[in-house]
Amino acid sequence: MSPPLAFPPRVDDGVVVLRPLREPDFAPFARAFADDPALHRRVGRATPHTERSIAEETAAEVRARERGTWARFAIARARDDALGGALLLHDVSWRHRRAEVGLWVAPAGRGSGAGTRALALACRLVFGHLGFDRLQLFTETSNRAMRAVAARAGFREEGVLRAYQREPDGARPDIVIAARLASDPPG
Ligand SMILES: CC(C)(COP(=O)(O)OP(=O)(O)OC[C@H]1O[C@@H](n2cnc3c(N)ncnc32)[C@H](O)[C@@H]1OP(=O)(O)O)[C@@H](O)C(=O)NCCC(=O)NCCS
Repeated sequence: MSPPLAFPPRVDDGVVVLRPLREPDFAPFARAFADDPALHRRVGRATPHTERSIAEETAAEVRARERGTWARFAIARARDDALGGALLLHDVSWRHRRAEVGLWVAPAGRGSGAGTRALALACRLVFGHLGFDRLQLFTETSNRAMRAVAARAGFREEGVLRAYQREPDGARPDIVIAARLASDPPG
């Protein structure tokens, strides 16, 4: 049995906050998926999130945190706590002290550093709080924004997984794996 994923109620850098998702976040969360029709595929979902799917996952997340398997965070603005995106820690391996991270930022908020800040805060939680050794992420080779964010948050690209997954339209994109170790410099 894995230990629970217990995190501080919020972690922030003065501009961006990672905190649990709350009911008032559900509408802006769903709006981001409506505003960006490519977003659900980017985050590995077959369909866009709705307020209902978010509410269901948020309820399930309580059990997932207790079982130590996955946790989702709101990426919020420090100045007014408004939801700007979300970050998922998943494929948590306590045995290997390793986890995987995925994130999105709502279309209107992209390009102002929120993604980089959120990823740096996730490193703080995973290395500082959980004491893990490795945080990794997978993204399509074509996702230049995510690759830029990862590099700026201290992640190193380790290789390309060719035709790694099959998309609903039959495409088989190449995927980059990138990781930051606890011993790596922050970026
Ligand atoms: C990837 C994502 C989270 C980045 O969030 P963000 O808040 O915009 O990130 P930042 O503002 O910190 O940085 C964006 C960087 O990407 C760069 N960028 C943005 N679009 C780009 C593009 N089309 N080509 C190249 N670089 C791009 C920006 O220039 C910036 O880098 P720079 O500051 O060095 O110039 C956001 O674009 C997003 O939510 N995308 C859709 C979901 C997604 O793809 N998630 C990752 C799934 S693995």
